Amino acid sequence: MKSIVNGPIPDDFMRDVSNRLNTLLFDKEKRELTVLDQLLLPLEKKYIPVRNVDEACAVIKSMQVRGAPLIAAVAILGLYLEINQKTLKDSAEFLHFLGEKSQQLIDTRPTAINLRNALNDLKACVLVSSVQTVQGKLASLNEKILEIYDGEQEENRRLVWNGYQEVISNCSHGKEKLTLLTICNTGSLATCSWGTALGVIVALHQAGRVENVYALETRPYNQGARLTTTELKHNGVPFMLITDSMAAWTMKTTKIDAILVGADQVALNGDTANKIGTYMLAVLANHHKVPFYPVVPYTTVNRSRENGDSIPIEERPPKEMLQANGVFVIPEDTPVWNPAFDVTPAELITKIITDFGNYPPKELKKAVEEFSQV
Ligand code: MRU
Repeated sequence: MKSIVNGPIPDDFMRDVSNRLNTLLFDKEKRELTVLDQLLLPLEKKYIPVRNVDEACAVIKSMQVRGAPLIAAVAILGLYLEINQKTLKDSAEFLHFLGEKSQQLIDTRPTAINLRNALNDLKACVLVSSVQTVQGKLASLNEKILEIYDGEQEENRRLVWNGYQEVISNCSHGKEKLTLLTICNTGSLATCSWGTALGVIVALHQAGRVENVYALETRPYNQGARLTTTELKHNGVPFMLITDSMAAWTMKTTKIDAILVGADQVALNGDTANKIGTYMLAVLANHHKVPFYPVVPYTTVNRSRENGDSIPIEERPPKEMLQANGVFVIPEDTPVWNPAFDVTPAELITKIITDFGNYPPKELKKAVEEFSQV
């Protein structure tokens, strides 16, 4: 792929998905969904079925499926599969069922806002529909679910294009090859597409613009060590794995051209919740004058949250810190605090890269308002 910048998205940009790592397989005709069990990666590649909401909740809670956009996709497809097998007698029963199942899904992971946004959109679409029959409501719901699922591909191409242009235009300073740093896993394994931050990194690599990627291990769940390295290897991107505590020294001793991260929830002022350790990276980036970018689809913005102060931070079980491969390597009764996310204050962010443009945090709210009216 040629390295083109500053223009409309080329039609073939990231269009060839034949070699993309698929984390989810959905057969619309047969109404079958299987997901890659991410707990087994990188040692084993095994797809497991998801047939209903209970199974969707189970794979999300267990972290077999994770990453904010992927969680939302598996949730709405689980709902799609279950509601289409069900006989509901009237529209009141339909709405009650939809409400109950949505709440069950929303409760699985509280920080990842894509899930709540998608389910709210579904609810709104069914409520707005003037058709009162169960069949009519089901048809509107099905259409919206498939629109959200299919729409991610194009939304992701725009997001990756915007990130790709931003990095080449504003971080390369005439250099052909760039050194990048990322945390957690934000690629194909976290979405149904190329991914957010990692999608941008893969696009830059395909254009021959990557010298090296520092991937943070991402304790305690090791999404960086287990999943990001799998994806970087799969795509042939040169990389080096570092522990989270090596980030400062890496920035001190190596010229990092940009830090690209994902997000689980972005407030309208640009405060960004992402994997624990992201805030630390932003502080370090500011100290070392490295551009720091969350790469975020519209679906990760919380349009009703003004700032990040009250973003709910999911706390995970202590065993994730105390065990290795399911075995306690630290005494089981060790007191542990295990917040899965932190919030990076907007003032530490260079720009927020989105599918609707790249904005300094101060400009995000206006851009979101304008985009949501399109
Ligand atoms: O706990 P996880 O693995 O679901 O956390 C994932 C992240 O923090 C990602 O950065 C975020 O969901 C964006 S993924 C495109």
